[in-house]
Amino acid sequence: MAAVITTTALTKRYDDIVAVDGLDLQIERGEIFGLLGPNGAGKTTTINMLCTIVEPTSGRAVLNGHDVVVAPAAVRQDIGIVFQEQSLDTTLTARENLELHARLYGVPRAAWQERIPQLLQLIGLEKRADDACRTFSGGMRRRLELIRGLLHRPEVLFLDEPTIGLDPQTRATMWEYIRTIAKEHGTTVILTTHYMDEAELVCDRIGIIDNGKMIALGTPGELKGRLGGDLVRLRLDGPVPPRLHEHPFIKRVVTAEDGLVTITLADAQHNLPALIRQLPGIVSIEVRTPTLNDVFISLTGRAIRDDSPVSGGGWAEAAWRDMNQGNSR
Ligand SMILES: Nc1ncnc2c1ncn2[C@@H]1O[C@H](COP(=O)(O)OP(=O)(O)OP(=O)(O)O)[C@@H](O)[C@H]1O
Ligand SMILES: [Mg+2]
Repeated sequence: MAAVITTTALTKRYDDIVAVDGLDLQIERGEIFGLLGPNGAGKTTTINMLCTIVEPTSGRAVLNGHDVVVAPAAVRQDIGIVFQEQSLDTTLTARENLELHARLYGVPRAAWQERIPQLLQLIGLEKRADDACRTFSGGMRRRLELIRGLLHRPEVLFLDEPTIGLDPQTRATMWEYIRTIAKEHGTTVILTTHYMDEAELVCDRIGIIDNGKMIALGTPGELKGRLGGDLVRLRLDGPVPPRLHEHPFIKRVVTAEDGLVTITLADAQHNLPALIRQLPGIVSIEVRTPTLNDVFISLTGRAIRDDSPVSGGGWAEAAWRDMNQGNSR
């Protein structure tokens, strides 16, 4: 597989904030790549640099052979975007929004006339095609934005928080569409999300970004494997034995303020009885396999909140529209 995106020391500064700090990344053709990180980590800024919306302060990014600074117009022809903020014209119908986009991209009429009904059917919106988007639910709008991003058959599709604000069931359907589209069209997908446990179901590879830096990169399995075991959470009626962490199958012992003890245990299936023998007075015990959220906590000491609000003010979408109408940035 050849890399479709390569970044080298890609950096964006805003005065004294380093939003993206020396990012070196390769994304393979056809993969679904997830950028995960807390609010302000630099996810949207990274995507905006790759999409030519924000110019890097230093470093380089090449997409499908085109440098984002040297050949932004060529990059734009090869990509589709679903912005973090809602970006449909809600006074227009679903079909009109799609047609407008197709015309902006110079998709031939015969091609869009064929593709629009197919895409609407794919996301189950064919019956609502001629209704104004203001009558749509959040989930319907998001689905429509997703297929709009695909209309010109981009090589790379960027999805910035494609499921934010949607209920869990709608999020699950949305992820299914994303996976289907990526795999059927061979489209490379780069997405950001706060929903870590959903990301691991849909992404081939994940990069965890914090304070503008990539702090971990790998398949969901690899990232979770780095914890070295399963998690045992328990409450004791006395103190934790002081030499507990010296046992070879115990990778980590963390006592939280509320007295709950979390032990990372290698091969819990076999070693749990031995662990229990080491611990007097177990009040409660729970064993589970780690999630990406656990990986994030072990790397940063913090959790990514799943309910983080949407930030930003829609300016990126406006800038994008201006550029595609021939205005300079
Ligand atoms: N136009 C701007 N001017 C000044 N600072 C900015 C600008 N855009 C982003 N930043 C700063 O850069 C940092 C990264 O922001 P960014 O929007 O990339 O984060 P994010 O990971 O997408 O966060 P979220 O999860 O909230 O969407 C933040 O500290 C933010 O305040
Ligand atoms: Mg963002």
